[in-house]
Amino acid sequence: MTKTPTARDPAVVDRLSRRLRVQVAGKPQRGIAVPAPGFAAEALQELGRIQLRSDDVEQRTRVALALERGRVHLEGIRFSDLCRLTMATRLACDVLWVLLSARARGYSAFQRQLAEVPLDLAFPEGAAIRIKPISTASVAFHERRLGELVELEIRRRGYRPAESGDEEPFPLSVEIFENRLTVAASLAGEPLYRRGYRAELRATAPLREDIAAGVVERTMSFARVRRPDYFPRTVINPFAGSGTLALEAAAAVLDIPPCVFARRFACEQLSGAQGKGVRFARRRLLEDAAERLAPAASVHLIALDIDGDALSAFENSARLFSRALRDRIAPGVEVKVVTRAADCLRESWVAAGDSGGGDGDALILANPPYGRRLHCGSDLAELFQRVGRAAMLEVERWRGYRDGTIAGAILCPNESSWRAARGAFDASDMAITTSHFTHGGLDMRLLCFASARRQGHWPPPQVQEDTVGTERDSLGRLCS
Ligand SMILES: C[S@@+](CC[C@H](N)C(=O)[O-])C[C@H]1O[C@@H](n2cnc3c(N)ncnc32)[C@H](O)[C@@H]1O
Repeated sequence: MTKTPTARDPAVVDRLSRRLRVQVAGKPQRGIAVPAPGFAAEALQELGRIQLRSDDVEQRTRVALALERGRVHLEGIRFSDLCRLTMATRLACDVLWVLLSARARGYSAFQRQLAEVPLDLAFPEGAAIRIKPISTASVAFHERRLGELVELEIRRRGYRPAESGDEEPFPLSVEIFENRLTVAASLAGEPLYRRGYRAELRATAPLREDIAAGVVERTMSFARVRRPDYFPRTVINPFAGSGTLALEAAAAVLDIPPCVFARRFACEQLSGAQGKGVRFARRRLLEDAAERLAPAASVHLIALDIDGDALSAFENSARLFSRALRDRIAPGVEVKVVTRAADCLRESWVAAGDSGGGDGDALILANPPYGRRLHCGSDLAELFQRVGRAAMLEVERWRGYRDGTIAGAILCPNESSWRAARGAFDASDMAITTSHFTHGGLDMRLLCFASARRQGHWPPPQVQEDTVGTERDSLGRLCS
């Protein structure tokens, strides 16, 4: 974080340390978690689960979590627990620490309240601050004016507004909503979906990691309604691109906190981070994750894409991902990756990574192309109809010889593509559900499916192979 070093009066330093002890470490705080768009319910549950693991027994159930305007509000929480949540959540893109929340009707009330914000409890002296003004349902303020007023105030207090060259400025959210002013420091800094395991950024816009984590969470929860002990050790990711869905599924199955990866969090640099609860938060989270993992825990990722470069990017990210897990959590943990540069409408997804029969639950996650990524310019509904049919064939193939549950999700960019994909499951015994989320400005439909456990046999019957082959030949022509 950018910081201007200044010689400081020891008495001032001493006073600040005392205020930090009393007003931050020694007092319940308020936080706001910002979930991945469309996954607020899942984020609420996830944050509740993480809070239940707090090392302060009394805090585990005392914190109140509530959903309000799509965000998770946390009341009565220790500052160190807010930092833990920031480093452990997979489903939020930011966690804000509320520095002030007060009524502010009109300019003079606003300026009076602004002067009360204890910025020094959050930001080191002279720090660069990136102001994020939000004005909703306020007649008196528009965002630019709001930003200008906050900028004047932070300069007056010896901070400076972030410039384009600043590497990691501290984000400060300043929101006016119905005459209430809320000022909050981001504990994430960089958005939390920048996990730190992506080896390279590719031109094709990948799915955001927090959205991918939301898709995984919702699909697994749906499968667990049918089979409470559903636990997919195999993740099949057709149309994988750079494999975000596969890697987030691995993190969910192994229950890995994102702080295992190489990135920094603003909360580690804030003035309030002096307490040992915050200093040791990352290490404690990793130790807890290691304790939860079985000694030789593993997950098998099968990724297919027509674009070999995208798969190379995925392989590189998967290597960073696995190394971080082995080095920082448990040396025995295995993330087995099989990639295949293939047309997913011609080749079997299951067969691409097949390692024989036996028990096993599986998870299929498909984010087929749309818009510019639709290689062939073909009709979207027709493509999704074929993707749906291919998914159903893969489900049948898996159930042919595995004694387990297979569940999955297809991400559909509009109603016609969703209707087309859904049609493939009409005559099946699969449970189906649809929900929505936002991605790249699109109202995406998430079509989830789940099978029941069924006794299988190995090897799969030959007649089914032929059916798959014939069907695939006609599918493949669409997108190759
Ligand atoms: C929407 S993107 C997937 C993005 C991915 N979820 C990520 O985060 O990187 C769709 C992917 O499908 C691939 N694709 C398009 N047609 C294909 C086909 N017939 N078979 C296999 N992959 C295909 C594209 O190369 C692209 O990587």
